[in-house]
Amino acid sequence: VREPDLAGRHVVISAGGTREPLDPVRFLGNRSSGKQGYALARTAAARGARVTLVAANTALPDPAGVDVVPVGTAVQLREAVLKAAADADAVVMAAAVADFRPATYAAGKIKKRDGQEPAPITLVRNPDILAEISVDRARPGQVIVGFAAETDDVLANGRRKLERKGCDLLVVNEVGERKTFGAEENEAVVLAADGGETPVPHGPKEALADTVWDLVAARLG
Ligand code: C5P
Repeated sequence: VREPDLAGRHVVISAGGTREPLDPVRFLGNRSSGKQGYALARTAAARGARVTLVAANTALPDPAGVDVVPVGTAVQLREAVLKAAADADAVVMAAAVADFRPATYAAGKIKKRDGQEPAPITLVRNPDILAEISVDRARPGQVIVGFAAETDDVLANGRRKLERKGCDLLVVNEVGERKTFGAEENEAVVLAADGGETPVPHGPKEALADTVWDLVAARLG
């Protein structure tokens, strides 16, 4: 059993993947299962934290003792995270948030018509929640953690992303068709704004989660 080193702390975790609707039956989505975010929620609760889990389109059982807030789109996820972050000691953005959403939503199902070319889908940018909460910290000393899935130049791209977003820690994963998304295990490097670099060997998502909480707890002092 671990020390309850997060006792008295409130942590907010986003998990899963947003779905951006085109019409009542279709959406643009991604392959995030939410398993890493749920592992973060379970391990934080085991270490004594009060946990708010903002869950985007996950199909996983609610972790015991965790406050789960279900959301669908990036805009809904932003609202829920900003609300919960107001009194949080740490925010971990493990969700795969769509960078873009369809510019328009069709109230009725989009139909195919004989002899007509399909209509193009126009996209608009979603808010970057991680960048926003990193720049406008809800509390001094609040620790903000992001995730980055990269397919190449993993460390260099991760370091650039950490700086661009302004968060304290960035968990960098290498992804591919059979890597990370939906898997039970993960392998990553945690980059810190102060220059730190913590490799996490291939293993269960709980082990990566505990490394993240070790680094967060050290920063909370
Ligand atoms: O820029 P990229 O999508 O690779 O960044 C990934 C990180 O940023 C994740 O922590 C994700 O939760 C967060 N993110 C966000 N808002 C977006 C896109 C990503 O908070 N619109």
